[in-house]
Amino acid sequence: MQDDDTYIKNIRSAGNILKIVKEESKKLVISGYKVIDLVEFIEKKVIEMGGLPAFPCNVSINSIAAHYTPNLHTDLTLKSGDYVKVDIGCHIEGCIADTAYTVKVDENDDDLIKATQEALNNAIAAVEPGVKTNYIGKIIEDTIKDFHYNPIKELSGHGLKPYILHSGVTIPNYNSNVGSKLKEGDTIAIEPFASTKAGKLKTSEEVYIFKYLQDRPLRDPNSKKLLSIIKQNYKTLPFAERWLEKDYSNLKINFSLRNLIRSNVIYPYNVLLDSEGGLVSQAENSLIVTSSGCEVYT
Ligand code: CO
Repeated sequence: MQDDDTYIKNIRSAGNILKIVKEESKKLVISGYKVIDLVEFIEKKVIEMGGLPAFPCNVSINSIAAHYTPNLHTDLTLKSGDYVKVDIGCHIEGCIADTAYTVKVDENDDDLIKATQEALNNAIAAVEPGVKTNYIGKIIEDTIKDFHYNPIKELSGHGLKPYILHSGVTIPNYNSNVGSKLKEGDTIAIEPFASTKAGKLKTSEEVYIFKYLQDRPLRDPNSKKLLSIIKQNYKTLPFAERWLEKDYSNLKINFSLRNLIRSNVIYPYNVLLDSEGGLVSQAENSLIVTSSGCEVYT
């Protein structure tokens, strides 16, 4: 276990990497650019700068709300007018920074994008020790509704702990009425989502992102081998099928992953869609609660 000073040093370094990767990657969110090239650019840049991806780069377009990342041979290309949500994670020795932005391809930020940016800024301005998480949620909900959109209540901000992307506290995107109090030293990610419809989600059958849950007896030798690779490389952090496709195609990746899900060894992050086809925007930053407020480190 690392001490608090090492933890803070590492999250700041991870956050500094993301600040740069975020700005550089925005230049590639243009019509005609391939989504596979965008995620590969981002993850490669994170590694070049001394971090590791804390989760696969998510590029969720239009009414896809979250959890989409392409496979290696996916042909998906960005189109003019697409709402592209880019969610990026970086960790250093498990210390996580998590950030996201939305771009409308070839256009300036519009109200849908501003709604989540402003909700995030207003939420961050309210963070200090003792503030309740549902109060932060109320600020997010009120801001998004001022723009005449709806928050996605089924998605929320989250606590960050070493090697655990969603830990402890939940930061709702609405006034959930019950909440817990933030404490000095808490590290959290706040991530408002806004929808042009009611903001209800449905779960797609499609899944490209997974995480290790627990060991269970396995018979299939490929699945066993794949599991040991997953545990060694990603520990308890989310990983992409794409990451395994590169080096382990001999292990029948798609079949083995499905077998591991069925055996309850790995958890599938199914792609999440706006149930009414609403367009979705997202903004996210990570922060540490300080004695007088907070320090945003992404
Ligand atoms: Co997050």
